[in-house]
Amino acid sequence: MRGLNDLSDLSREEVDALIELAIRLEHHPEPEALAGKVLALFFLSPSLRTSTSFQAAMTRLGGGSFIVSPESAIHGLEFAPDVKMDGDKAEHIREAIPVLASYGDALGIRAFAPKRSLEDDIDDREFQSMSALSTVPVINMESAIRHPCQSLADWKTLDELDVPSSGGKFVLSWANHPRALPLAVPASTVHMAAMRGMDVTVLRPEGFALPDRVMARARRAADLSGGSVAETSDARDALNGAHVVYAKAWSSAKHYGNDDAERELKKDLAHWCVTESWFEGATPECRFMHCLPVRRGVVVTPNVLEGPRSLVIQQARNRMWAQMAILHSILATSS
Ligand code: CP
Repeated sequence: MRGLNDLSDLSREEVDALIELAIRLEHHPEPEALAGKVLALFFLSPSLRTSTSFQAAMTRLGGGSFIVSPESAIHGLEFAPDVKMDGDKAEHIREAIPVLASYGDALGIRAFAPKRSLEDDIDDREFQSMSALSTVPVINMESAIRHPCQSLADWKTLDELDVPSSGGKFVLSWANHPRALPLAVPASTVHMAAMRGMDVTVLRPEGFALPDRVMARARRAADLSGGSVAETSDARDALNGAHVVYAKAWSSAKHYGNDDAERELKKDLAHWCVTESWFEGATPECRFMHCLPVRRGVVVTPNVLEGPRSLVIQQARNRMWAQMAILHSILATSS
C-alpha cells in the first residue's frame, strides 16, 4: 500500500485485509516488523488519540516516530503560494514538508478544514497540495473532508461486536455543539457505513444536511455494497430499529465558514443531545458510537457515554490496531 488518503481509495477486499491484519497484530505481536523505520507526524491541528495511537503503533511494531506541530517551537509557517516572506513567518510549507519527509519512511499529516470555501474543502485542496510535496507515502490523519484511520477503526469495532452489515441500521446523527466543527468525520463515517453494506440514515435538523457531493459519494458506495443511504430530520423514524447511533456535531453546509449565522441556526437545537430515551425504538442491543473528544451533557449524556451501549473507548483503542495494520502495509515490505 502506498499511503492512505481515503478509505474509498480501497476495495472492499483491501479493507477486509487491513482489518484482518489489525486483528492479527492485536493477538500476535510483531515487535520487529518495522525495526529501523521512522514515521514523521506533522500535526497542524490538535489531537489526543491520533498523535498517541500512531506513536504507540510504531513502538509496538519496533519502529520510531517523531511529532512536529506549530506548538513545538518551530518557525512560523507560511502557506500562501506566492508571498514575499518579510513578516513573522520564517518557514514555508513547501520546504517544511519535504524536509520532514526526508527524515521519515512515511509521513502522517493532520490539517483540519481551512473553511474558506466548502467546495475547496470537499476537494480537500489544502491537504492534497501538502501531500504532493512529500517524497514518502502520506497517511491522512484527518483532513478537511477525510478521516480514514477513524473509519477503519470504527469498521473493526462494528465487526468485533457482530453488528450486522447487510440489514444493519446505522444512524449517523448530528449533535449540538458550541463550535462549528469540520465535516471530515461525518463525511467519512457515512461513507464507511455505506461501504460496509449497512442501511445508513443521516439524522439532522434542517440546515445541517451533509453536502450533496458527500451524500452522492456515500450512495455510490451503498450501490456497490448492497446498502442504502437516506436522510431525515425525523428522529423517531430514524432511530426506529437502529443497531448503531453514531453521534457527531458538524458545520452547517448552508452557512459554511459563517460562525455567527451557524450560532443563530443552533440557538434552539440544544435538545440534539443523545439521551437514553433516543434508544426507545431502537434494537435492544443498539450501540452508541462517537469518535471523541466529546462534550458531555452537550453531545451526549454521561449515562449513555459511560453505559453498556457505549463503544467510545473500544473505538479509540482500535485506532491503534487499525493504524498498526496501515503502517505494516505501507512500511513492512518497503526497502
Ligand atoms: N478521534 C480523533 O481523531 O481524536 P483526536 O482528535 O484526539 O486525534
